[in-house]
Amino acid sequence: MPSNAPAPLLDVRELSVSFRSRGRMIPVVERVSFTLHEGEILGLVGESGSGKSVTAMALMGLIDTPGVQISGSVLFQGHELVGMGQRQLRRLRGSRIAMIFQDPMTAFTPVYTVGWQIDEQILAHERVSRKQARARTITLLGDMGVPDPARTADSYPHQLSGGMRQRAMIAMALSCNPALLIADEPTTALDVTVQAQILDLMRNLRTTYGSAVLLITHDMGVVAETCDNTFVLYSGRMAETGPTSAVFARPGHPYTAALLASIPPMDGPRPHRLPAIAGLPPAPLERPAGCAFAPRCSYAHAACLPAPPPALVRVGTAHQAACVLPLEGTPLTPSVMGRDAA
Ligand SMILES: Nc1ncnc2c1ncn2[C@@H]1O[C@H](COP(=O)(O)OP(=O)(O)OP(=O)(O)O)[C@@H](O)[C@H]1O
Ligand code: SF4
Ligand SMILES: [Mg+2]
Repeated sequence: MPSNAPAPLLDVRELSVSFRSRGRMIPVVERVSFTLHEGEILGLVGESGSGKSVTAMALMGLIDTPGVQISGSVLFQGHELVGMGQRQLRRLRGSRIAMIFQDPMTAFTPVYTVGWQIDEQILAHERVSRKQARARTITLLGDMGVPDPARTADSYPHQLSGGMRQRAMIAMALSCNPALLIADEPTTALDVTVQAQILDLMRNLRTTYGSAVLLITHDMGVVAETCDNTFVLYSGRMAETGPTSAVFARPGHPYTAALLASIPPMDGPRPHRLPAIAGLPPAPLERPAGCAFAPRCSYAHAACLPAPPPALVRVGTAHQAACVLPLEGTPLTPSVMGRDAA
């Protein structure tokens, strides 16, 4: 983003989320910061359990686990969401912020037609007649590439294929023209062709609806194809963030480099989880004093161990990594890291 860019749509600063367990606080997400501008697609990537969904749910005020502690700041269109009352948050969700999930069955109630459910969403936020709402539902389904949208609107969720249900869920999410769409693994359950169509749809949202998208995925191939910027989360902490082209050309964190080294070809079968990297991320309470990736990092050396690296080290313009290597001038390339990580 150029320096004279307008204020971000979403400005997340030092967001931390801890859950209480057996009298202790478990720090699941620690001091995560990022921005998202209007019309931008940001890819949030990381291994299972790294805190991607918790980050997204915290942004939307959707964590109601007793004893949860959320700190930091989430400014959305200039409004602070951390600490905002549930009533106000509910008003924002489904109007200016919408979320889609991996499994569209969780978004739809099985006993009503998808059209009726999208109509209801529109009626809850706008003063329009049921007939007008249905017309809008049909247009939205058509925009999402659903063939015969009027007939699809009259179908029950279980009567649609996975790809059609996903399109219907995106239509429902977009029914109120949200400024921000949070998509949590929206294509993982779909086959390659449908996945490519859904990603196309996401890319088109910025032109058709002007929406910004936070796209959560475990698939670096999807990030490469779809996202302007990339944000890598490792064990609840930021590992790397920057423009996708820069992160992919010159990763600043060995974890990112290892992920890049294992991207399957876009036309081959897609992985259901991130490619395997030897070892496991540490549990939140067992994170080492220094870099959390150190036990798995073939570049780890004395400077990494005593304390976490400086929060983020500059790798390039708007490109930062939580690693000492860029400070030391050690270049990382996906191919070098691929050999080391194997
Ligand atoms: N309500 C909760 N209470 C306690 N711990 C939780 C809660 N929700 C999530 N966690 C823990 O937080 C960690 C991060 O979970 P999260 O679901 O955000 O991971 P993720 O990156 O989305 O993984 P995946 O790729 O599998 O979806 C996990 O260890 C999980 O067990
Ligand atoms: S700080 Fe050290 S251990 Fe951590 S990723 Fe960088 S080189 Fe590896
Ligand atoms: Mg998740």
